[in-house]
Amino acid sequence: MREMTDNVDRSKRRLLIAATTAAGGVAAAGAGAPFVLSLMPSERAKAAGAPVEVDIGAIEPGTMINVEWQGKPVWILRRTQEMLDLLAKHDDELADPTSEVPQQPDYCNNSTRSIKPEVLVVLGVCTHLGCSPTFRPEVAPADLGANWAGGWFCPCHGSRFDLAARVFKGVPAPTNLIIPPHKYLSDTRLLIGDDSKGDA
Ligand code: FES
Repeated sequence: MREMTDNVDRSKRRLLIAATTAAGGVAAAGAGAPFVLSLMPSERAKAAGAPVEVDIGAIEPGTMINVEWQGKPVWILRRTQEMLDLLAKHDDELADPTSEVPQQPDYCNNSTRSIKPEVLVVLGVCTHLGCSPTFRPEVAPADLGANWAGGWFCPCHGSRFDLAARVFKGVPAPTNLIIPPHKYLSDTRLLIGDDSKGDA
């Protein structure tokens, strides 16, 4: 009688173990699916420099978004026509108005430092000591002066950059801000960190 009870107990236990294993398998597959389907790089891969895909379709003219790539901020600014017009009016106040210093890929070595004139993609890291400058798009605010036509102001020691991220003369930052490699996957999808030709 005792032996029969043991056999029943053992088979119940086997059944329980089998059921638990099956449930665990389903849970693991369920947890893994969203990650695989979204094709998002892992946090570790991102930190190591994986390209970052960004939907820029919802950025309103005159505003910017901030995304992270290689642990650094990347700003994506959608410039208005008025902002673009103002860019041409203060070249004589800039340290490197025509981007002689190679702080940008060749395809951004133009008057707007961008692939599309209206969309600026730039590393938000001051070339002085690495602070992240503050976005100041307004024209002639009291604290920045009547000549200010919009740009970025670095709180560390007062470096100034225009809306093409070009540095002004006479400030601590030695060069224009860096434009990272990037390319368009479609009208609204941007890939930061990869500018290779062909499919993404
Ligand atoms: S880090 Fe920008 S002015 Fe010093």
